[in-house]
Amino acid sequence: MLDARATQPNPTIYLKDYTPPAYLVDSVALTFRLAPKATRVISRIQFRPNPDNVNRDFFLEGEDLKLIWAKIDGEEITPHITDKGLSCAVPDAPFSFEAEVEIAPEDNTALEGLYMSSGMYCTQCEAQGFRKITYYPDRPDVMSTFSVRIEGDLPVLLSNGNPAGAGHGFAEWHDPWPKPAYLFALVAGDLIAHSDQFNTVSGKQVDLNIYVRHGDEGKCAFGMEALKASMRWDETVYGREYDLDIFNIVAVDDFNMGAMENKGLNIFNSSCVLASPETSIDANFETIEAIIAHEYFHNWTGNRITCRDWFQLCLKEGLTVYRDSQFTSDMRSGPVKRIRDVIDLRARQFREDGGPLAHPVRPESFQEINNFYTATVYEKGAELIGMLKTLVGDEAYAKALDLYFERHDGDAATIEDWLKVFEDTTGRDLTQFKRWYSDAGTPRLSVRDDFKDGTYTLTFKQETPPTPGQDSKPPRVIPIALGLLSPNGDEVQATTVLEMTEAEQSFTFEGLGAPPVPSILRGFSAPVILERASTPEERAFLLAHDTDPFNRWEAGAQIARQLRMDMVQNGGAPEGEYLDTLRDIARDASLDPAYRALMLQPPAQEDIAQALHAKGITPDPQAIYDISETIAQTVATHFADTAPRLYAEMDTPAPYSPDAKAAGKRALQARMLGMITRLDGGKTAAAQCASADNMTQHYGALCALLSQEFGADENAAFYQQWKHDRLVMDKWFAAQIAFAAPDKASDAAKRMTHHADFNAKNPNRFRAVFGALAGHHAGFHHISGAGYALLADHLIALDPLNPQTTARMMSAFSSWTLYDAQRQSLAREALERIAAAKGLSPDTTEMVARILAS
Ligand code: TRP
Ligand code: ZN
Repeated sequence: MLDARATQPNPTIYLKDYTPPAYLVDSVALTFRLAPKATRVISRIQFRPNPDNVNRDFFLEGEDLKLIWAKIDGEEITPHITDKGLSCAVPDAPFSFEAEVEIAPEDNTALEGLYMSSGMYCTQCEAQGFRKITYYPDRPDVMSTFSVRIEGDLPVLLSNGNPAGAGHGFAEWHDPWPKPAYLFALVAGDLIAHSDQFNTVSGKQVDLNIYVRHGDEGKCAFGMEALKASMRWDETVYGREYDLDIFNIVAVDDFNMGAMENKGLNIFNSSCVLASPETSIDANFETIEAIIAHEYFHNWTGNRITCRDWFQLCLKEGLTVYRDSQFTSDMRSGPVKRIRDVIDLRARQFREDGGPLAHPVRPESFQEINNFYTATVYEKGAELIGMLKTLVGDEAYAKALDLYFERHDGDAATIEDWLKVFEDTTGRDLTQFKRWYSDAGTPRLSVRDDFKDGTYTLTFKQETPPTPGQDSKPPRVIPIALGLLSPNGDEVQATTVLEMTEAEQSFTFEGLGAPPVPSILRGFSAPVILERASTPEERAFLLAHDTDPFNRWEAGAQIARQLRMDMVQNGGAPEGEYLDTLRDIARDASLDPAYRALMLQPPAQEDIAQALHAKGITPDPQAIYDISETIAQTVATHFADTAPRLYAEMDTPAPYSPDAKAAGKRALQARMLGMITRLDGGKTAAAQCASADNMTQHYGALCALLSQEFGADENAAFYQQWKHDRLVMDKWFAAQIAFAAPDKASDAAKRMTHHADFNAKNPNRFRAVFGALAGHHAGFHHISGAGYALLADHLIALDPLNPQTTARMMSAFSSWTLYDAQRQSLAREALERIAAAKGLSPDTTEMVARILAS
């Protein structure tokens, strides 16, 4: 008998093997008869041979389906069925295919296809989940209109498009915009709507709804405002208007990722849409605003223009992340958003690009596409759009985007199509730029400078280290935004963009009276690692004087990183002058508090490990942890007078408001509280815990206490107060692990997996525990290997239930070769145990093989 659970990897598929579909679809009609254990799906699909492909083999993807019957042009047939799909003989002319299948949404723990979450039915079809709903050509270049009838005894029955009729126990929907199957969605449940309306720029009225479970209706207002702001922004900035009569969002508790842009029916992880001052922290509000915008923006960049094949994923994701970052910059602070994005890019994408999981922004092969929803495709993909905009200028970018929408509306497009609109608008040859899409790895950019007779010369050298499958890489075009400062701090050269195209290249600046201090890669104009042997004085100078807010922050971040690296190697302590500068920045009222908070944020310990490794030094996570603690304590002592004063000064008036200004003050206040808690035995934090009327300050104070091993009572009280709230409990679970001492972190995680409220089947809860463990650098990489072993145990247990979430969490192991022999052998043991697990999913099989190959 055939075992449905594959033990082998999927076959590798290649971009170069792309062929157009053999058959196209003109229309789809679906009827769903909902039942938890036996939902019937009846389909009627109008096919037509594709003139662009002479192949006439007819194959429909379908997995885990029970076929009841199938017909061609009304005649019952007996198709050939495998565990991958269905084939049969078809006419050499347009024909209709009909089928009825049975599926069991209640048994679907993979959360892909049609599944159930807390009593509601919902779907997730990207990338290849529709084939678990019915037989279909499940590929993004097959686009069709969909008509859907849902029959079920539930008050809310939703699908894509516009409502087309409803009655007792049924509802009908019609989506007039042709779409690929991955954008199909269905939701059914006892839900309650938070409703509003939006008038589009051309005067059409759109009904807006956020559907949630009873009890959550008070957590929708913020998301609704974010949605309306996104709709207006896309009209104003990109000239994109919404195109249906209705736009629905649904919050779901069990969801593998953040959210999904299904046409007219976005489905969200409840953590990415539900918000209230009492239960959400400032960062949640900002994330929710960004994700609502992201999914909404996909309506044009993703849905109206979709991807030809899954290798082109960055076409929609890179561009849409770029668009949502522009939106956030406009809604909040540009520099703060940029700094946060770069912190995140370095922590996730640079790490990916420098390890065994490195792959190009547009990969050329994959086994499981779900493993390629990565920081590289999304975040580096967005960086490429930003570079392109820097290179061609704002005006040409706007023109190129207009052309893109005009030329490709309704298309399943490629990166070639995308670059062509830029070439056609600007006359530029983008051949070299395209290497950013095809070559993996983070370029290293080194710089020398020279001053002679009033002429300043900067010489750059670029080099990209080898990545899996790519040994040597030709030079890329790198836009280097540069400013020059005179020794007294004046800007003698305002920001200009140098276009580097050679492996080594010099740029000169004339007529300077004295050697300037260069401010290189302003605004982080390219995703590269800048290696500059700058002196500590130069960094201190830029920290004090750089007119570019990003590079000013960067100077501080470099000093902080170097300090830790020096201390790990040679001991020592932070210098008084540096501590004074930190204090001056903290008190500088001319700076945005959010920016000041970022300036005081210590570098991630993992970053220090990466930086040491790059210098040929084997990092010791425990030593990095100890030094970080020492520095934090020294800084706190230096702030003994400042911290309480600034803490009081950063108080925000009640009632709580999640706006950027107030959130920035709270961020700086939280930094001060962290310092104060190191000095006052937890008195201030305990008082804040008791008095806070919002989650930001309540949770912030609890975290401050736990990080100093205080707060047992507050911790217990927090649990009692919030145990009914799933999203607050996720935070509480994470905090129990994140603030444990390194030698206790895996024990803490283990304890939380035994907690009555732990549920591995819920991805948010699983991630709360194991995301916190993996994020605890010294804890996860503890020399005992307990962190590796525990994560391996739980990934092996989760894999049969939910391969996608298991495979995503595998990336915790991706930097295992950075560390010493003992840690490596313990990590290898854990990885090999996962690899040997019986019936391992193709998803996890691919991940573990890639990680072990390093
Ligand atoms: N396309 C979604 C986005 O970026 C993300 C996504 C891809 C997803 N696959 C998914 C979400 C699977 C949930 C589950 O917005
Ligand atoms: Zn997206």
